[in-house]
Amino acid sequence: MVVYFTGTGNSKFAADVLAEKLEDECFSLNEAIKNSRSLKLQSEKPYVIVAPIHAGCYPLIVVKNIKNAEFGGNKRVYFVSTMGAPSKMGGGFYEKLALSKGLDFGGYCGVVMQNNFLPGDTMPEKTKADEMLFDVFPELEKIAEKIKSGKSITVNEGAKPDAFMAGLMGKLFGTFAGKFMKMKVDDRCDGCGICAEYCPVNNIELVSGKAAMKNKCVTCFSCINRCPPEAINVMGKTEKSGRFICPDYKEWKEKHSQRL
Ligand SMILES: Cc1cc2nc3c(=O)[nH]c(=O)nc-3n(C[C@H](O)[C@H](O)[C@H](O)COP(=O)(O)O)c2cc1C
Ligand code: SF4
Ligand code: SF4
Repeated sequence: MVVYFTGTGNSKFAADVLAEKLEDECFSLNEAIKNSRSLKLQSEKPYVIVAPIHAGCYPLIVVKNIKNAEFGGNKRVYFVSTMGAPSKMGGGFYEKLALSKGLDFGGYCGVVMQNNFLPGDTMPEKTKADEMLFDVFPELEKIAEKIKSGKSITVNEGAKPDAFMAGLMGKLFGTFAGKFMKMKVDDRCDGCGICAEYCPVNNIELVSGKAAMKNKCVTCFSCINRCPPEAINVMGKTEKSGRFICPDYKEWKEKHSQRL
């Protein structure tokens, strides 16, 4: 079972590719969290967790949900992250996480995709975002092959000492980022509700036809990137930075069927 969490679709894209290659099913953590469903997972195939990196680690909400989940059936687990820049950090953290759940650690690797952290990066044109996926796709195929043959997917050995650092950074960032990175909605909001529909933690409600933020944001950056009139901004740095949503894998594959 491929279990994923996503803000702007990169991790869903990766999860969809892996699930197809492994002939397995996908499970959306976004939906489970949004609907307050407890995680009683059951799978005869190994578990593959896919999530973005937020400040060097999986988002705290993902870690918490994995810690609380029940993993029935197969006892092997692999961790894949999507990230904006190559990093060697984290392998030891995921190994500890697997062991804490009594699971057999199949390894950890990161796949570099478009950085969705708007204050820190310029967003690409749609066609460029599409093109980037041609580099990502074969990497994901290789990861699926390793998983299929029962090999470890760890590419960066010796990451154990950073287990503490990755965990600490993830915890600090997950606890405080939502408090200092406030999503601000401006007058361009037309009340379409897309941001609220996608928010994994129901942090957005429509009040008098406008989006209003509550106080439990997990900084997934979904709303800011999905808002059609670009009415959501953060830290006063995103007004001119463009927006990014990863294409849906099935649509991307159909569109480029002749090249794949
Ligand atoms: C709040 C936040 C923090 C991030 N921190 C990092 C980071 O420390 N290192 C990195 O390589 N990418 C970082 N990124 C980029 C994302 O990990 C990357 O774009 C990821 O593929 C997004 O996946 P998603 O579309 O499934 O949400 C960050 C993104 C956000 C929104
Ligand atoms: S997506 Fe944008 S326009 Fe639509 S409700 Fe949210 S803030 Fe308003
Ligand atoms: S309000 Fe926060 S948690 Fe909700 S979609 Fe926006 S960035 Fe993500």
